[in-house]
Amino acid sequence: MLGFGEKVVMIVAVLVMLGVRGSGAEGRKPVLHRVGGGQNTWTPSVNFTNWSSHEQFYVGDWLYFGFDKTQYNVLEVNETSYDKCIDTDFITNVTKGGRDVFNLIDAKPYYFICGRGYCFNGMKVAVNVTVAPPLPPPPKKGGSPSSVGGVSQRMILLSLLAATFLLCS
Ligand SMILES: *[C@@H]1O[C@H](CO)[C@@H](O)[C@H](O)[C@H]1NC(C)=O
Ligand SMILES: *[C@@H]1O[C@H](CO)[C@@H](O)[C@H](O)[C@H]1NC(C)=O
Ligand SMILES: *[C@@H]1O[C@H](CO)[C@@H](O)[C@H](O)[C@H]1NC(C)=O
Ligand SMILES: *[C@@H]1O[C@H](CO)[C@@H](O)[C@H](O)[C@H]1NC(C)=O
Ligand SMILES: *[C@@H]1O[C@H](CO)[C@@H](O)[C@H](O)[C@H]1NC(C)=O
Repeated sequence: MLGFGEKVVMIVAVLVMLGVRGSGAEGRKPVLHRVGGGQNTWTPSVNFTNWSSHEQFYVGDWLYFGFDKTQYNVLEVNETSYDKCIDTDFITNVTKGGRDVFNLIDAKPYYFICGRGYCFNGMKVAVNVTVAPPLPPPPKKGGSPSSVGGVSQRMILLSLLAATFLLCS
């Protein structure tokens, strides 16, 4: 049998888990991805394929390019130009001051290169943007069955029952 203290610990653990679940319902905030992983890492020495393979890009997120604008630039290009490092007829010139951002608004792969020959040294990055996994539906006003912060009332009821059971057993 569990002691009273252990039961309380278990109940608190259940409530904390519910709280964590519930907080997910407030909506996902867009994430700013620092390309290359640092403040100033749009540079030839970085392996951007490796970097992007360790990131998850969702619709609405932002890319941040930090670089020396006297040397480098950032151009959004199509897949062909990305593969072949063609820096003419780009889609978007992302370059402004060297601390530049780009909003990933669609669920599709995006391609960026540095012009002036640096693309051939590996200064290019592809990011595959996907739709964020669905969040629990927001609470409906006056509707039933409703949910509180993404946690169904049934879940809360069940855990209260479990808590009562644990305390009384
Ligand atoms: C690849 O990326 C991971 C995580 O970002 C990093 O720890 C690792 O050093 C990188 N490896 C190379 C070869 O760049
Ligand atoms: C970059 O990282 C990728 C994935 O980790 C790896 O497959 C590739 O060989 C690396 N490229 C270079 C030039 O190191
Ligand atoms: C990609 O861009 C290049 C350069 O602007 C252009 O020649 C080519 O037709 C484009 N390819 C596709 C598939 O849009
Ligand atoms: C991109 O825009 C920057 C800032 O306006 C400008 O200095 C640069 O010449 C442009 N690059 C290209 C390739 O058009
Ligand atoms: C992008 O991600 C989606 C979903 O994971 C996948 O189906 C698709 O093949 C990926 N595209 C590229 C170009 O990697």
